[in-house]
Amino acid sequence: MNYKKKTVTDIPVSGKKVLLRCDFNVPLDKTTGEITDDKRIAAALPTIRYLLEQKAAVIACSHLGKPKGQRKPELSLKPVADRLSQLLDHKVIFAEDIVGKDARAKAAALRPGEIMLLENLRFDPGEEKNDPAFAKALASLAEVYVSDAFGTVHRAHASTAGVAAYLPAVSGFLIQKELEIMGRALADPRRPLVAILGGSKVSSKIGVINNLLEIADTIIIGGGMAYTFSAAQGGKVGDSLLEPDWESYAADMIRKAAEKGVKLLLPVDTVCADAFAADAHTQVVKTGEIPDGWQGLDIGPETVKLYCDAVKDAGTVIWNGPMGVFEFPAFAKGTQAVAGALSETGAVTIIGGGDSAAAVQQLGYADKMTHISTGGGASLEFLEGKELPGVACLLDK
Ligand code: 3PG
Repeated sequence: MNYKKKTVTDIPVSGKKVLLRCDFNVPLDKTTGEITDDKRIAAALPTIRYLLEQKAAVIACSHLGKPKGQRKPELSLKPVADRLSQLLDHKVIFAEDIVGKDARAKAAALRPGEIMLLENLRFDPGEEKNDPAFAKALASLAEVYVSDAFGTVHRAHASTAGVAAYLPAVSGFLIQKELEIMGRALADPRRPLVAILGGSKVSSKIGVINNLLEIADTIIIGGGMAYTFSAAQGGKVGDSLLEPDWESYAADMIRKAAEKGVKLLLPVDTVCADAFAADAHTQVVKTGEIPDGWQGLDIGPETVKLYCDAVKDAGTVIWNGPMGVFEFPAFAKGTQAVAGALSETGAVTIIGGGDSAAAVQQLGYADKMTHISTGGGASLEFLEGKELPGVACLLDK
């Protein structure tokens, strides 16, 4: 995939109406509906500020949640407009619809240096269907399309890809940064390239492992998926998370890594527990020796040492997926130690994906990493080497 895309500084935006796709899909409190984390809104500010300084008239848009083509008041973007206005310290006009009367009138009246936000794009069924009529109506509000919604570039929706058929399409600063850092890590990494892959399921990481087997020098496996690798080698995994259908795949990966000369590191010990609970009894056992009735919930101390040593002299480290159930302090040590090792290495450190980003933030290492991707599903597909519709549709440099 071509990662070299035109950005907002490559085309004239001054005095123009700009349709800006953001990823304002923020978490909301289930009872109060309040925004519980506004990082995604803050992440869009540099592009918005630039556009306003350039005296563009900014028509921002986003989805929120999964309303499935229905107008759901609890998923209105109005609270996002208010929060954006506070963060920006600038008035944000809110349109009650997307391409209806209110949005069209407010977009037409919008002046250079002003910003408005459309209502939740997914209230219209045309958005997720990438309906050309809806994409055209959206595009007709503006003269230029800027995408800064990295979290949604893996979706071929009207606002993430369809509109680019009707408007000159470029990236904002957020997508530019994601493409530059993650694109370089895949296409021309500083070596050795070490990939740390964790999380619960092998099945959800197949694409990433396959792609990284072609690129990485070392692949480190942790998290729940390590138990499927252990079972594939005849190990006893007790009650640990296991995907029996993927054991032969895991065995294949071990063989392929050896053939390609990729160093594949698997846990040598594990912290197991007698229940999936924060206060469960624990013991450390060797990999493949988990007793019945016990389940592995974190990598063990020997594994921690092995993995931390492996990142010391890395040129680039890509990390996707926690090493254990880090939400419980008793099983956060592996994830914490790896995050700590990453914070100390001189390598370019890239944290891809929702859970690993959350872990690094929760454990207090966020500002020590080179880059924390704002995409969940999007960064996973990026690491799989897939073509992303929301990137492919942007103008090449
Ligand atoms: C995300 O939260 O990962 C993005 O906003 C994409 O949301 P979606 O999975 O509902 O398409």
